Amino acid sequence: MGVSRTWYVILVVIAACTCGARTECGETVQISFLTSVHDDPSCTMLSPTGVTLYEAAKLLAEIHNNKTDGFEIEITTVDTCGNITGALKAMMKALVWADVNCLYPPYYLGIIGPDTTTNIEAVYKVTSILKVPHIIKKPSISPYLHSLTEESNSYLVEGILKMIEILKWKSFTLVTKVDDENDDDVQNITKKLTVNAIANNLCVIIHDNDKEDYTSHIVHIGKPENNFFNKLKNATILIISEGNLKNYLNHIDSINTILLLEDSRNVINGLEWRVENSQWWAPDNGLGRYDAEELKRVRWLENAIKIYVKALNALCKNKKCNNQINALEWNHIVSNMLMTYNKESEAAPKFLNLFMKKKTSNLERLGDIVVHRNKTKVYWDKSKMDEKEKNVTEKTEKNYGAPRNNNNMSYIFRELLKEENKPQSRCATAVKQIKIKKKDNEATQVLVSGMSDNGWWTMVCTISGIGITMFLVGILAVYVIYTNVQRPKCAKNKNHLDRDTNLRRMSNDRELPTTITTRNQRVLRSPHRRGSDRSTISEKSV
Ligand SMILES: *[C@@H]1O[C@H](CO)[C@@H](O)[C@H](O)[C@H]1NC(C)=O
Ligand SMILES: *[C@@H]1O[C@H](CO)[C@@H](O)[C@H](O)[C@H]1NC(C)=O
Ligand SMILES: *[C@@H]1O[C@H](CO)[C@@H](O)[C@H](O)[C@H]1NC(C)=O
Ligand SMILES: *[C@@H]1O[C@H](CO)[C@@H](O)[C@H](O)[C@H]1NC(C)=O
Ligand SMILES: *[C@@H]1O[C@H](CO)[C@@H](O)[C@H](O)[C@H]1NC(C)=O
Ligand SMILES: *[C@@H]1O[C@H](CO)[C@@H](O)[C@H](O)[C@H]1NC(C)=O
Ligand SMILES: *[C@@H]1O[C@H](CO)[C@@H](O)[C@H](O)[C@H]1NC(C)=O
Repeated sequence: MGVSRTWYVILVVIAACTCGARTECGETVQISFLTSVHDDPSCTMLSPTGVTLYEAAKLLAEIHNNKTDGFEIEITTVDTCGNITGALKAMMKALVWADVNCLYPPYYLGIIGPDTTTNIEAVYKVTSILKVPHIIKKPSISPYLHSLTEESNSYLVEGILKMIEILKWKSFTLVTKVDDENDDDVQNITKKLTVNAIANNLCVIIHDNDKEDYTSHIVHIGKPENNFFNKLKNATILIISEGNLKNYLNHIDSINTILLLEDSRNVINGLEWRVENSQWWAPDNGLGRYDAEELKRVRWLENAIKIYVKALNALCKNKKCNNQINALEWNHIVSNMLMTYNKESEAAPKFLNLFMKKKTSNLERLGDIVVHRNKTKVYWDKSKMDEKEKNVTEKTEKNYGAPRNNNNMSYIFRELLKEENKPQSRCATAVKQIKIKKKDNEATQVLVSGMSDNGWWTMVCTISGIGITMFLVGILAVYVIYTNVQRPKCAKNKNHLDRDTNLRRMSNDRELPTTITTRNQRVLRSPHRRGSDRSTISEKSV
């Protein structure tokens, strides 16, 4: 394509500019992680998820480096601010940081993110020409965008339904925090649970915040507010959580019976402390907040890193990783790793721990629920379960043995069951319409590799408009070509005229060199500038 050719020219110029200055690539293996640490249009509000992921990336790299006897990795997290301009800037930063000459393994493995389809599409227009792989969450058919599916939350829904079956509830009140901003998951679980419960002839009462319509059977998705427990009397509350709520609930003093169903996977040690003490939380940004519900995203990041590392190991096993690797081959290896991983994670069983608490006592572990494909089973015997948990790799059904019968149920739980079996008369007959915010229309979009010329030139215009001081070297090259190639008309761009005058002013202000020779001279002196660029970047982004 003509488009690709133009980009090659630009990149060759950039490469020609930089190769005089640097001859060797870094010693650590680099991965770039593009995420939104800030998540509002003006890029000033910190996103707790973003901070968590930022800290997690640092921690995960450290954990890897502490235990590896092979190569060490360095993960550069760059803030996209959640918009296209920010994402393009972040991508440029990442590539400049990694050095355009070193964009191949073992020096550079690829990019993780960005998050949204629009941002991925914008960034991909550049990175696809460099053949840099991305690991993303969205489905894609492009050869350089590798889709790592986020774990399905169906196992949580299955776990709740199993508990409801054991408790013999015919009806329950479903409570969620729908007002929360980052509640896509919670909403999704709520919807799935409602649909499945209705299919099982259960009566679901969706809690409406305006009314006190709680029954004595409550299913709460996510972390309950502190005052939530005071609104209820003598109720049984089943709380489902992806993260670690044990400490929080142990401090709750309530006359209600609390059942907690929680993902059994270990929290990453030290993550909570790091998030709460993150340097991002400047005094005026308020106190650091850590939300265990974000662990699902941390796990996704962890898996993405693992896939790159595994792919590099596979490559180096053949002793091929010392020379420059063909980009297509590297993408192929990453893609294969990912496909294997996606298959395995789909087949793997999921474990939920079940806890119970009355009054001021601490949570007592009652047993575990294992969700494997269609089957959901309860194991009341704790010691037996621990052994099985270690055996996660043995996936076949047989290995679980027969589920134990009620004889081994904990005493307090059996007492609870006796009470629960009393007939309920307060079952609502109508299911209120569940309020779900329609936010993510992107789910159905599939990223494609094709790109229209029009879209491409729009992108060039966008790139030219950003980061002028930061990417001096690269952008100068872009400008030289941009101004020489007369064809591009940033059609439908209102700022077209402005941009042109900007360009001219730019060339005056900055004395844009007119010949390649002078530019090369400028660039030969660039190590100092690059050095200072780096420190600015590192202050801002690291
Ligand atoms: C890695 O090792 C260093 C030095 O031994 C130690 O200070 C640090 O806490 C370790 N980090 C992790 C995440 O284990
Ligand atoms: C997008 O992100 C940049 C930071 O890269 C920020 O300056 C800008 O205000 C953001 N918002 C819009 C609407 O572009
Ligand atoms: C929940 O999200 C998944 C994708 O993450 C989607 O496939 C599914 O349809 C959603 N379920 C509901 C009930 O919205
Ligand atoms: C809660 O249960 C206790 C004993 O089971 C009973 O004495 C009390 O009246 C109940 N409270 C309410 C509000 O139902
Ligand atoms: C799940 O159950 C359905 C029938 O209930 C069955 O047709 C399907 O093959 C099962 N899937 C798996 C993965 O076991
Ligand atoms: C699974 O459990 C058996 C004993 O029940 C043990 O011998 C085996 O090593 C375990 N496998 C793994 C992978 O832990
Ligand atoms: C109950 O647990 C004990 C060990 O804790 C075990 O020996 C016994 O077989 C279990 N009973 C049933 C009915 O599963």
